[in-house]
Amino acid sequence: MSDAAIGNPIPAPVQVGLRDRFGRHLNYLRVSVTDRCNLRCVYCMPEDMKFRPKRELMSDQEMLTLVRIMAELGVTKLRLTGGEPAVRPNLVELVRTIAQIPGIREISMTTNGLLLPQLAEPLARAGLDRVNISIDTLDPAKFREITRWGNLADVWAGVEAAEAAGLQPIKLNAVVTREFNDDEVIDLARLSLEHAWQIRFIELMPFGSEADFAQGAVVSSQETKAKIEAELGPLHEVPGHDGHDPARPYRLAGARGSLGFISSVSEPFCAGCNRLRLTADGSLRLCLLRDGELDLLTLLRQGLDVEAIKQRIIASVYDKPWGHGLPGGEIPQLRLMSQIGG
Ligand code: 5AD
Ligand code: SF4
Repeated sequence: MSDAAIGNPIPAPVQVGLRDRFGRHLNYLRVSVTDRCNLRCVYCMPEDMKFRPKRELMSDQEMLTLVRIMAELGVTKLRLTGGEPAVRPNLVELVRTIAQIPGIREISMTTNGLLLPQLAEPLARAGLDRVNISIDTLDPAKFREITRWGNLADVWAGVEAAEAAGLQPIKLNAVVTREFNDDEVIDLARLSLEHAWQIRFIELMPFGSEADFAQGAVVSSQETKAKIEAELGPLHEVPGHDGHDPARPYRLAGARGSLGFISSVSEPFCAGCNRLRLTADGSLRLCLLRDGELDLLTLLRQGLDVEAIKQRIIASVYDKPWGHGLPGGEIPQLRLMSQIGG
């Protein structure tokens, strides 16, 4: 006999996940676990960057509560970002707990790699699936110049540690910045010949006080791709592209790895956007490049109950803006990249 026939109420509809007014399904959450970093990349933050006091940031418990809520609302994929996520104390334990949250199927992390020699193995054991590592240059002197004090050999040690720990497939991110590393894109692309990595070239995006620098130094993906093809031959599209991944993969003839181009400025991929972001101070940011946010941490600290928080999230996400306003000169002012997590 069916439930309805014996008078039970009709079960609530299965949660189909978060959707916005355009029908985009938001199942991917990027969580900035800290706004701090052990580097100061010139395009990312000023050398005397002021970080937020700890009390303004999510505690471990607050972060886990918000991630649980988002998982119950249909988030399945999670990426840890920063600042530099690896400088967050207790990161391994956080990953272990997040990995056990029902609904979370994949956890990745975007990192500068410096702390991976110590952390790759424990993070992998705790449930981290893979990493994206930032590497803008192959020249140690330039690396120091871009990051203000970083040591390139530490990044390579991090890449090695990630491989050894099985955090694969490894993706390497290079932000292409005019007159810093635009002459290196060919050498960076060459890395994909020998290694099964995806090398991703990212267009520089403008944020707040660093916007003028970014706008003067942006190099389009089209220019980067043309430079690579002129030197290394035609790029072939790799079939099976996930429409939510901003980087469509390409391959050089005979290469083990692939190349990707993230053209946030010149060719926005907003139609395929499945992302939401949680900032280190606990705000749900609806679009990387727009300032609209819902301050979840304040709601949580005010004692709003979980159901009410969920309703606020559902309503905000429904109003996620379609896309960014960079072409019309609308530059996000509220936060720098390091306070959003990319
Ligand atoms: N534009 C584009 N990418 C940036 N990143 C940091 N700042 C910017 C910016 N203004 C990159 C980092 C890292 C990822 C988190 O974002 O280099 O790869
Ligand atoms: Fe740190 Fe990444 Fe910003 Fe560089 S780009 S300062 S590594 S957060």
